[in-house]
Amino acid sequence: MEIQYMENARIFHLRAGEMSYAFGVDALGRLVHLYWGEALRHASSLEALVPVAKLACELPGVDANNACDFEVPTREPFDYGEPILWPRFASGERGLRLIYRTHRIERGHLTVVLADEYAHMEVEAHYKMWRDLPLLSRWLVIRNTGAEPVEMQAVKSAAWHLCAGHDYRLTHLSGNWGCEYTKNQLMLTQSRVVLQNSRLTCAAAQQVPFFAIDRNGEATETMGKVFFGVFHWSGDFEITVEQQFGKRVSVTGGIGTFDSNYAIQPGESFETPAFTGGYSTRGFERMSEILYDWQLDALMPRGCSSAKAHAVRPVIYNSWYPFEFNVSEENCMALIDRCAEIGVEMFVIDDGWMPGRVDASAGLGDWIADPKRFPHGLEFISDACHRKNLQFGLWVEPEMVNPDSDLYRAHPDWVIRIDGRPMTLQRNQLVLNLARDDVRDWIIDWLDDLIETCRLDYLKWDMNRYVSENGWPEAPAADKQSLSIRYTRNLLAIWRHLNERHPDVLFENCASGGGRADFGMVPYADRINRSDNADPVDVMVLHEGFSMLFPPKTAGGAGNIAPDVHHIHGRATPLPFRIHLGMTGSMSIGINLLTVSEEVLEALKEAIAEFKQLRPDLQDAYVYRIASARRHPYALFQYTRRDPKFFALFAFVHGMRCWDLPLPRFEMRGLIPDALYENEQGVRMTGEALMKIGIALSLKGDFDSVLQVWRAV
Ligand code: DGJ
Repeated sequence: MEIQYMENARIFHLRAGEMSYAFGVDALGRLVHLYWGEALRHASSLEALVPVAKLACELPGVDANNACDFEVPTREPFDYGEPILWPRFASGERGLRLIYRTHRIERGHLTVVLADEYAHMEVEAHYKMWRDLPLLSRWLVIRNTGAEPVEMQAVKSAAWHLCAGHDYRLTHLSGNWGCEYTKNQLMLTQSRVVLQNSRLTCAAAQQVPFFAIDRNGEATETMGKVFFGVFHWSGDFEITVEQQFGKRVSVTGGIGTFDSNYAIQPGESFETPAFTGGYSTRGFERMSEILYDWQLDALMPRGCSSAKAHAVRPVIYNSWYPFEFNVSEENCMALIDRCAEIGVEMFVIDDGWMPGRVDASAGLGDWIADPKRFPHGLEFISDACHRKNLQFGLWVEPEMVNPDSDLYRAHPDWVIRIDGRPMTLQRNQLVLNLARDDVRDWIIDWLDDLIETCRLDYLKWDMNRYVSENGWPEAPAADKQSLSIRYTRNLLAIWRHLNERHPDVLFENCASGGGRADFGMVPYADRINRSDNADPVDVMVLHEGFSMLFPPKTAGGAGNIAPDVHHIHGRATPLPFRIHLGMTGSMSIGINLLTVSEEVLEALKEAIAEFKQLRPDLQDAYVYRIASARRHPYALFQYTRRDPKFFALFAFVHGMRCWDLPLPRFEMRGLIPDALYENEQGVRMTGEALMKIGIALSLKGDFDSVLQVWRAV
């Protein structure tokens, strides 16, 4: 990791691992992008950028074809691309002309200070590196140095530019409830493609705030240069991928602009969320490795001892799939006994524990245990768990309220609404206005109390609706459109508080499944509900998209060993198949342990014991997507420990036909060529043979699955 400043040419060069990033200050004082790509390791290589910078200077955008690529585009003269800052001053005038003032270089962090020559506005452009990972986090701090408020109509975080003149392909992950992280790929044309969410309460439900771009559409899992980025915000966002004439491609990203406007008061600043870009020299697989390393070694919650991110995740039992709202002291106590018998490590009561919460029509907002169904309170259940050496966890949905609740009766003004218009219910619930600091503080208070009095080891934060009437009647007119920004800021502030106050509690980020599987949440959540869809055939596909971004230990959910018939398709699947899929993530069991046979209990007990043995090697492993269920009647995932002296091969089959046979030998990846690996049957192969000759598998029919474990000897 290195930051260089070439004083004479006024060029900045940031080198992080296999990536270099460079920009310069042109003759007019503007920050002009110069290079993003493979690391430039020789000082003299940078000389080659000098003419590029000069060229940019000499052509201060005489026409659109020759316009420069700006680090902080604000529609400079002749730059017609997407701006990332768009202020409206008290005079009604819009736009900015940012000129370099000074810069600071600290360890791994460059700050360039810019200011408008005419308007009273200062902007700090931040560039932060993550040791030797080929990543660069960028954000802006905008300071109003004038005497009047400034309305920000666009307040985004960064612009990334690719070398012009090439054909590029965009990869993005979209979806819906039950089918998150669908991989889409399209060749760019002269147009703007906007990846966005404007549902306010989440980022990732329909579109993960992520992009990847490769040249000519040639990158594969293992080959090719891939430029990628993730945006750190769990709310409305916009990532605009723009190709202008001459195949000039740039990606701008930040907080969404739909119905969004933020007034910066005189003397105040606005800090944007970060937008991190990265670069892989080895296709999408290396991109995933970089993202995993970053999360495991730097981003994920560290806990008290800093070891939390690397600690194994407990085997969870969750009440949702088998019992839904029908939870009570009686069935919980019986389940706790069963859980302890089969080796479960944490018992979780999902939705349904509050007064009146016997279905989705009531209970949200009144965060006390239903005295009818839990006569001795949740502390009693918690103690029972702890006595049996089980951890105890609870589900909450803090942002929501049912109209039929004491909370709503006491504070009808706390919900997001437009006075004079009907309020829309979704799942019988309304959204609390988290943009209000009193609502934020109320949530913090009752959550702290709940976690402490119930001695919770785990909290699952759910969120089950979007916002349709973005209204805030109590706010002054100038602040009304800041609703979504203030909402998300307070949401993340609560999560930050929870982590600081309860550093060793395990937090699960759930938003109707993977609705908040985004990098805004990564620093605060130990587990992500990958999806509410735990149908194993769908999980074969879902896990492919999820694993592009997130490491195995974060793949949570209410029961990734799901009931034999999962409600989404009504499809029955055999237990061994579900168990193997359950092992690919952070294991959770969502089966009715009170009604299953002794054989099923025994099988679960064995599976849990086996998983516990493998878990330290599986949970932080890189996931290599060897074969995709999108193309084949099978999916193969290779879990390779980061050292890489261990790997496990998971194979799943659904719908194999005669003409799908014979299967190829499957070539492993990322092993030590000279090491000798041995599997549990005593078969030995060198890393080289495993990678070049491959492994033969005999898979057939439906719901066949294999788990092979290999260790270097
Ligand atoms: C949606 C979540 O994704 C599920 O896991 C479950 O917690 C339900 N909500 C409860 O209402």
